Amino acid sequence: MLNRILSNRIIPNVLTQDEVDQLKGSVANSLNNFFVPGYGQSVTNFAMPKNILDKFIYYATSITGISGLEIEYQFARYQLSKDAHGNIVNPKLTPHYDDRFSSPRFTIDYQIESNTSWPLEVEGKSFSLKDNQALTFSGTNQIHWRPIKQFLPGEYVDMLFCHFYPKDSNISDILKSDRDMNSLKKYFLDIYKNEDMASNYRSNMIE
Ligand SMILES: [Fe+2]
Repeated sequence: MLNRILSNRIIPNVLTQDEVDQLKGSVANSLNNFFVPGYGQSVTNFAMPKNILDKFIYYATSITGISGLEIEYQFARYQLSKDAHGNIVNPKLTPHYDDRFSSPRFTIDYQIESNTSWPLEVEGKSFSLKDNQALTFSGTNQIHWRPIKQFLPGEYVDMLFCHFYPKDSNISDILKSDRDMNSLKKYFLDIYKNEDMASNYRSNMIE
């Protein structure tokens, strides 16, 4: 079961076109939204239609083999934005694990729509999603990030993040300790920072 939770696979053709339209409509009727300056990410809370909710739970159940899963979800848009001080913020997702959760989560990251490519990396493996595809991983148990990318004006990536946990049983035995996760995070963060320095160096050479 552990392997299934940690296995990273791309789900193709996640929703039908009608469901995609329905999902976009419910995101547009948002409950609230806020900007996360550290990631250059606009997050929206909204009410997902039950048929789509059931479909994501169905995917999660069939992949993990765990029944009775609860779901938490959020919509996020990545694009060039302005922060509260009027500074332009470029999206950036540094290596991290989802430490805001107190118990393990199985994660489905669904790409609703984008007009640019920005791969997801999970512990050194790169996954390029197309629209209507999703990647499975464990946000709490696997370090994940996206490579450094300079967004151009008008470029965007719209994502739906789904986090699953079992209602009854518990899978807390799979949760690595914060100490383990933090040392793993540091390992990938060091590689990421070197790449950041190299890309700054390259762009300075071009200017
Ligand atoms: Fe995350």
